[in-house]
Amino acid sequence: MSAPDVSRFRRRVLVCQGEICRARGAGAVLAAWLRRAAAVDAVVLRSGCLALCRLGPVVVVYPEGAWLGGQTPRRVAETVRLGRAGHWDMCPGLIPAIE
Ligand code: FES
Repeated sequence: MSAPDVSRFRRRVLVCQGEICRARGAGAVLAAWLRRAAAVDAVVLRSGCLALCRLGPVVVVYPEGAWLGGQTPRRVAETVRLGRAGHWDMCPGLIPAIE
Protein backbone atom coordinates (compact mmCIF):
# COMPACT_ATOMS: atom_id res chain seq x y z
CA MET A 1 0.00 0.00 0.00
CA SER A 2 1.43 3.40 -0.95
CA ALA A 3 1.46 6.42 1.35
CA PRO A 4 -1.28 9.02 0.75
CA ASP A 5 -0.36 12.19 -1.13
CA VAL A 6 -0.87 14.56 1.79
CA SER A 7 -0.45 17.62 -0.42
CA ARG A 8 -3.87 16.95 -1.96
CA PHE A 9 -5.59 17.68 1.36
CA ARG A 10 -6.16 20.89 3.23
CA ARG A 11 -5.62 19.24 6.62
CA ARG A 12 -3.69 16.48 8.29
CA VAL A 13 -5.17 14.66 11.25
CA LEU A 14 -2.72 12.70 13.36
CA VAL A 15 -4.38 10.01 15.45
CA CYS A 16 -2.13 8.55 18.11
CA GLN A 17 -1.88 4.80 17.93
CA GLY A 18 0.60 4.49 20.75
CA GLU A 19 0.14 1.72 23.26
CA ILE A 20 -1.65 3.76 25.92
CA CYS A 21 -4.00 5.54 23.52
CA ARG A 22 -4.79 2.21 21.86
CA ALA A 23 -5.70 0.78 25.25
CA ARG A 24 -8.08 3.72 25.70
CA GLY A 25 -9.91 3.29 22.43
CA ALA A 26 -7.74 5.03 19.83
CA GLY A 27 -8.55 2.35 17.28
CA ALA A 28 -12.21 3.40 17.29
CA VAL A 29 -11.16 7.06 17.12
CA LEU A 30 -9.02 6.30 14.08
CA ALA A 31 -11.92 4.49 12.40
CA ALA A 32 -14.24 7.43 13.13
CA TRP A 33 -11.78 9.89 11.58
CA LEU A 34 -11.31 7.71 8.52
CA ARG A 35 -15.09 7.77 7.98
CA ARG A 36 -15.41 11.55 8.41
CA ALA A 37 -12.16 13.09 7.20
CA ALA A 38 -13.48 14.02 3.77
CA ALA A 39 -15.96 16.40 5.39
CA VAL A 40 -13.07 18.63 6.48
CA ASP A 41 -10.76 17.84 3.54
CA ALA A 42 -8.30 15.96 5.75
CA VAL A 43 -5.96 13.05 5.35
CA VAL A 44 -5.79 10.84 8.43
CA LEU A 45 -2.40 9.60 9.54
CA ARG A 46 -1.59 7.08 12.25
CA SER A 47 0.87 8.52 14.71
CA GLY A 48 3.15 7.01 17.28
CA CYS A 49 3.04 8.28 20.86
CA LEU A 50 2.54 12.05 21.01
CA ALA A 51 3.83 12.24 24.59
CA LEU A 52 0.53 13.26 26.18
CA CYS A 53 -0.50 9.73 27.12
CA ARG A 54 -2.42 10.68 30.26
CA LEU A 55 -4.77 12.73 28.04
CA GLY A 56 -5.31 10.01 25.46
CA PRO A 57 -6.58 9.10 23.05
CA VAL A 58 -4.86 12.11 21.48
CA VAL A 59 -5.51 13.65 18.05
CA VAL A 60 -3.83 16.64 16.41
CA VAL A 61 -5.34 18.63 13.55
CA TYR A 62 -3.04 20.68 11.29
CA PRO A 63 -2.68 23.39 10.12
CA GLU A 64 -4.97 24.59 12.91
CA GLY A 65 -2.67 23.07 15.53
CA ALA A 66 -5.61 21.78 17.53
CA TRP A 67 -4.45 19.17 20.06
CA LEU A 68 -7.40 17.13 21.31
CA GLY A 69 -7.45 14.74 24.25
CA GLY A 70 -9.92 12.19 25.56
CA GLN A 71 -11.15 11.47 22.08
CA THR A 72 -14.04 9.13 21.32
CA PRO A 73 -15.98 8.46 18.12
CA ARG A 74 -18.71 10.78 19.42
CA ARG A 75 -16.17 13.53 19.98
CA VAL A 76 -14.82 13.02 16.48
CA ALA A 77 -18.29 13.65 15.08
CA GLU A 78 -18.60 16.84 17.13
CA THR A 79 -15.10 17.96 16.13
CA VAL A 80 -15.91 17.53 12.46
CA ARG A 81 -19.17 19.45 12.88
CA LEU A 82 -17.39 22.33 14.63
CA GLY A 83 -14.39 22.21 12.31
CA ARG A 84 -16.59 22.53 9.23
CA ALA A 85 -17.88 25.75 10.77
CA GLY A 86 -14.33 26.96 11.43
CA HIS A 87 -14.52 26.48 15.20
CA TRP A 88 -11.47 24.28 15.73
CA ASP A 89 -10.80 26.22 18.93
CA MET A 90 -14.07 24.95 20.42
CA CYS A 91 -13.60 21.24 19.75
CA PRO A 92 -14.24 18.83 22.64
CA GLY A 93 -11.12 17.87 24.52
CA LEU A 94 -9.08 20.80 23.26
CA ILE A 95 -5.73 20.81 25.07
CA PRO A 96 -4.53 24.30 25.96
CA ALA A 97 -1.31 25.38 24.25
CA ILE A 98 1.79 24.19 26.01
CA GLU A 99 4.34 26.99 26.24
S1 FES B 1 0.25 6.71 23.57
FE1 FES B 1 -0.88 8.37 22.72
S2 FES B 1 0.07 10.13 23.53
FE2 FES B 1 1.29 8.49 24.26
